Amino acid sequence: NLPNRVTLVDVGPRDGLQNEKENVGTADKARLVSLLQDAGLKEIEVTSFVSPKWVPQMADNTAVMAAIERRPGVRHSVLVPNMKGLEAALPTKPDEVVVFAAASEAFSQKNINCSIAESIERFAPVVAAAHEAGLKVRGALSCAVGCPYQGEVSPDEVERVVRLMKAIGVDHLGVADTIGVGTPRQVRAAMERALKHYPLVEVSGHFHDTYGQALTNIYACLEMGVHTFDASVAGLGGCPYAKGATGNVATEDVVFMLNGLGIETSIDLDKLVDAGAFISGVLGRQPVARVGRAILAK
Ligand code: HMG
Ligand code: MG
Repeated sequence: NLPNRVTLVDVGPRDGLQNEKENVGTADKARLVSLLQDAGLKEIEVTSFVSPKWVPQMADNTAVMAAIERRPGVRHSVLVPNMKGLEAALPTKPDEVVVFAAASEAFSQKNINCSIAESIERFAPVVAAAHEAGLKVRGALSCAVGCPYQGEVSPDEVERVVRLMKAIGVDHLGVADTIGVGTPRQVRAAMERALKHYPLVEVSGHFHDTYGQALTNIYACLEMGVHTFDASVAGLGGCPYAKGATGNVATEDVVFMLNGLGIETSIDLDKLVDAGAFISGVLGRQPVARVGRAILAK
């Protein structure tokens, strides 16, 4: 009894490009968003309104939001770490904002320079102001199974932050395996804690594929009824504050698996592969996506 339909959020333009050494031009970022829309993606994480000193690759956030093509039915989201980020984001008219906390103290410090408690205090007015502006707020929970600084992260640590996110009104909880170390039993345990506080429709998985476990973890979540996942075209991605972590699971690979399972996504795999080939070309390399490479080699 797997879900009939899955929603994929392509986080490539944000999670993917934030981690690139070479700066990708604004026009190429906008072109990537268009190609993802051509492929049928209905949810795209476009950029982040974070400090340009911390993540220079996202410094053109306002320009990117102005350059993207807005198509009816497509939701464009942006990351915001604080009020300053939200204030910069609102005039660019995102459809959704994403706040991001961590289940581990050490990662919270390295990524956003504050404790978990401080981050929640910072997000509370952001959530309220976003709601005031009519926007949905997703919450990303980093290091939900493992942390590059702390090591293993327990389900209790996950649930503690899930409760805090819920208490400040975060609408949706994304369980993130930032460094891609999770295996199905651990991922299931983290998901279960999220599902104690959020309904199935408001929980998603965000799995980096560092250890090659992401598809397996998605399958384990499908078995639980979870039907929303982040993925990154061409397998782009990583977090600048999680050294050695590779990209998110490739959207192409997820779509191929879901097609095989007869699960509807409305995504055209061939067009998605083209989008992956485009951005990989800009970056001067082959797509990390196994399916993308296989289809391109045919
Ligand atoms: P801080 O240095 O503690 O902040 O950074 P501050 O409030 O002291 O401000 C320092 C300077 O930054 C000031 O400028 C602020 O104005 C400016 P100055 O006076 O020095 O010229 N500033 C900003 N500028 C633009 N936009 C803003 C902003 N805020 C402050 N929003 C801060 C704290 C949170 C800002 C910083 O740590 C930061 O930007 N971190 C972002 C890190 C990041 O983007 N990480 C990657 C995204 S998360 C991720 O990838 C994980 C995810 O994919 C899930 C998963 O896989 O786990 C979501
Ligand atoms: Mg990520």
